[in-house]
Amino acid sequence: MEIHVQSGRLTEIEGAVCLVGYYEGEGAKGTIAAIDRALGGKIKIIVSAETFKGAFLQTLLIRSEGKIGFERLQLVGLGKRAEITEDRLRKSVGQGVTAIQKLGLTSIAIHCDTKTLGKDTATTVSQALIEGFMLSLYECDQLKTGKKEQKKIKTCTLVIEDEKDTASVDAGSQRGKIIAEGVCLARELCSLPSNIVTPSYLANEAARIAESDQISIEVLERDEIKSLGMGALYAVAQGSDEPPKFIVLNYQGAPQGKKKRPIALIGKSVTFDTGGISLKPSENMEQMKYDMSGGAIVLGVMSIIAQLKLPINIIAVLPATDNMPSGKAVHPGDVVTALSGKTIEIINTDAEGRLCLADALTYATHFKPTAMINLATLTGACVVALGQHAMGMMSNNPRLSSKVQAAGLAVGERTWELPLWDDYFNQIESDVADLKNVGGRGAGSITAGLFLKQFVGEIPWVHLDIAGTSWYNDARHPYVPKGASGVGVRLLVQFLTNESNGKK
Ligand code: BES
Ligand code: ZN
Ligand code: ZN
Repeated sequence: MEIHVQSGRLTEIEGAVCLVGYYEGEGAKGTIAAIDRALGGKIKIIVSAETFKGAFLQTLLIRSEGKIGFERLQLVGLGKRAEITEDRLRKSVGQGVTAIQKLGLTSIAIHCDTKTLGKDTATTVSQALIEGFMLSLYECDQLKTGKKEQKKIKTCTLVIEDEKDTASVDAGSQRGKIIAEGVCLARELCSLPSNIVTPSYLANEAARIAESDQISIEVLERDEIKSLGMGALYAVAQGSDEPPKFIVLNYQGAPQGKKKRPIALIGKSVTFDTGGISLKPSENMEQMKYDMSGGAIVLGVMSIIAQLKLPINIIAVLPATDNMPSGKAVHPGDVVTALSGKTIEIINTDAEGRLCLADALTYATHFKPTAMINLATLTGACVVALGQHAMGMMSNNPRLSSKVQAAGLAVGERTWELPLWDDYFNQIESDVADLKNVGGRGAGSITAGLFLKQFVGEIPWVHLDIAGTSWYNDARHPYVPKGASGVGVRLLVQFLTNESNGKK
């Protein structure tokens, strides 16, 4: 995507279409008033006829009939001025761009009012505009023949009034572009099927990201997973002919000489979850290609961090494997020894995510991180509880969980905390081993979280269950098209940015 910044009067700049925000109930003010005068009062007439009021996400396409430089204006409602937020801005751009897309143009302009969110907000505003723009355009079309010739938007020009804002808007739009590309990388990895996105594919993708100077990579193979003692992950992988990969990325961005403890990000990376011997029903099983969403999100974040060059150290861990039934597959009732030394009775081979994560979390503790955050499409119960509108959050540290929640809120990605009270622990006590991998009917997301908690020791830790937020079943969200959402990437980038700024 090519992004430009151009300053000047909106009525004078030329182009095919410009997206312009309109506040509800304000009539024609500022830029809108100038456009309306040039158009001979056309907007006023439409607004007074009540067809378009500027209600949040309402759209209206106007032809300028040669009266201004742009051939068309795409108005989008911003809602009430007092209620505007960064996320509303992102959503209204997404809505407007989705409408424009139908016009089949290759280049568009967006009016960037640098004062939308107050004084000195040019960078934040332009970042939100570019994110909304790029995120709403995402489509996984690399497997569709013939699609590539179709006309697509390739250039976007942000139109600003004051030339003095150029540098800030440039910086904001670059940051927005880097972040949106990272989200789209995560979406693409989730959307592509499991015959393409294998553990080896994820390892190659990680290696590509590790080409950046500050990142090193290590990939452990099946025999190393076994010899190191990762018995839980090994048990999941043993049923599959596809080689598992234990992928570790080490980003060292903290200033040289300062030995700073890292933050660890761990992502469930089950490239396909059949359930194993506890086989899933065939209806909707194809969706289990996105059971590696956690890993995809972590890779998206690492690719962003490498470009933003945050002054912080990060360890990323992806235990990547398929979960398959076969003659070699683990049996229900088998007992395995995890890397931590704990024994686990595998009651249900479909509760494989917590097995992979148990070893990945223990492995991550060896780096002595200050905080660990794992993301996992862990439980169907979380989809039942929260649907697609919030990630399930569980933690052993209220300070860390409130930071994660705040970071999510700031970027429009919500988390909702579930308790990890000890009272639930007897549900995962086994008769023959230290733990069992399922906790019965009640509180399925919590017992899964409590299982993970047994492997993090004293390290501040947050578990995000993203089973409901990773995949959107309808296309009603303005900047998350139907399918893989990439939700979690922006939350983590915001969290890590806050941490690198030393935010309390
Ligand atoms: N990958 C699934 C969870 C899932 C369900 C993700 C729906 C996305 C959408 C996970 O491995 C799983 O199968 N969990 C079981 C656990 C049960 C056997 C205790 C579940 O939730 O049914
Ligand atoms: Zn499963
Ligand atoms: Zn799974």
